[in-house]
Amino acid sequence: MARDIAIIGVGMTKFGEFWERGYRSLITESGSRAIIDAGIDGKDIDAIYVGSMTPGRLIGQEHVGALVADYAGLVGVPATRVEAACSSGGLALHQAYLAIKSGLYDIVVVGGVEKMTDVATEHATVALAGAADQEWEGFHGITFPGLYAMMARRHMVDYGTTDEQISMVSVKNHANGKLNPYAQFQYDVSLQDVMNSSMVADPLRLLHCSPITDGAATVVLASGETAKKFCKKPVWIRGTALATDTLSLHERKSITKIEASVVAGGKAYQMAGVKPSDIDFAEVHDCFTIAEILAIESLGFCKIGEGGKITEDGETKIGGRIPINTSGGLKAKGHPVGATGIAQAIEATWQLRGEADKRQVKDAKIGLTQNVGGSGATCTVHIFSMEK
Ligand code: COA
Repeated sequence: MARDIAIIGVGMTKFGEFWERGYRSLITESGSRAIIDAGIDGKDIDAIYVGSMTPGRLIGQEHVGALVADYAGLVGVPATRVEAACSSGGLALHQAYLAIKSGLYDIVVVGGVEKMTDVATEHATVALAGAADQEWEGFHGITFPGLYAMMARRHMVDYGTTDEQISMVSVKNHANGKLNPYAQFQYDVSLQDVMNSSMVADPLRLLHCSPITDGAATVVLASGETAKKFCKKPVWIRGTALATDTLSLHERKSITKIEASVVAGGKAYQMAGVKPSDIDFAEVHDCFTIAEILAIESLGFCKIGEGGKITEDGETKIGGRIPINTSGGLKAKGHPVGATGIAQAIEATWQLRGEADKRQVKDAKIGLTQNVGGSGATCTVHIFSMEK
């Protein structure tokens, strides 16, 4: 018999720069919040999954599955660290779903965490570049702002996407982040602020980039009957999919189409039995503002090449046709890489439970999250709803 699986509890830390706090303190805070929200006890937990991209390079700590179980007071509970670059959180959610689906576990705690600000930006940039192809890209000095800059420039050439349009993504996401008490940046930026901010990798400027962030996020998953026992408002995972593409950008047929997102999105829609026009809101991977444009195109919210236009037309704002990144996205909420995919699922949960306060999407019934690793070599897509 098919087993339905739901999110029954969520919790996250504020995202930001926390020099006074460590990795373990962040993940245990988000974990405690999620466990309290779910109303479960430590003894109910069958397993832990943790998405974390590169703690070894950022804080010198590996073996973080056991570390998290230890500091959560759950020694003895099976704990697995999952890594797929910036989509480590989305992958952890996918793996935890499969573990419950297998029938082996009933309640699984899934966290994501990264502590990025203990090192200088140049060190974090090199650590993040480990997600690119080292022989073809990293060795030659390319960084993620550089890779996404090439994607942005090509999109501008092929589709006429403008500087203004990629800047409007930032204006919108900062406006949303201002409404999110967990966001790293809770202030507005104007179009002029974005377009005059300092150049990072032409055409991407400072305010087109997600920041370097500390933070953690946790959700509690449970199978059907158990979910209903603990939770009045379970949020059902209707679709979960994972796809990959070439690690290096130059091997792809097109560098402006995130093919792994097209494939994972297609599979998730099929599993959920829904189509893009059924989705009421989405959290997508805007590590750079051009990435949000590529995401909404790859997920079928508009035609390929029209992501800039629908952003300019206001269709992706709260109150628009398809609100995107109501949380502020990676741009304003922040991007503690391993935590991002889980934080997206938390925003989806809050939206569906009607708990998103000033950024609530009216009548939100079906939400989607898209979490990308590297320049698109991994992509996970999840679809959630209050109805099974
Ligand atoms: N958006 C808005 N403000 C930002 C910011 C961003 N992305 N990054 C930094 N700032 C702000 C800081 O808050 C700080 O403000 P303050 O002076 O008022 O305190 C100021 O800019 C300087 O911060 P600093 O940390 O010195 O910036 P930096 O120049 O070292 O780093 C980037 C800026 C864009 C290079 C860095 O954020 C970055 O590399 N981002 C991309 C991360 C990434 O690649 N992630 C993986 C994606 S696949």
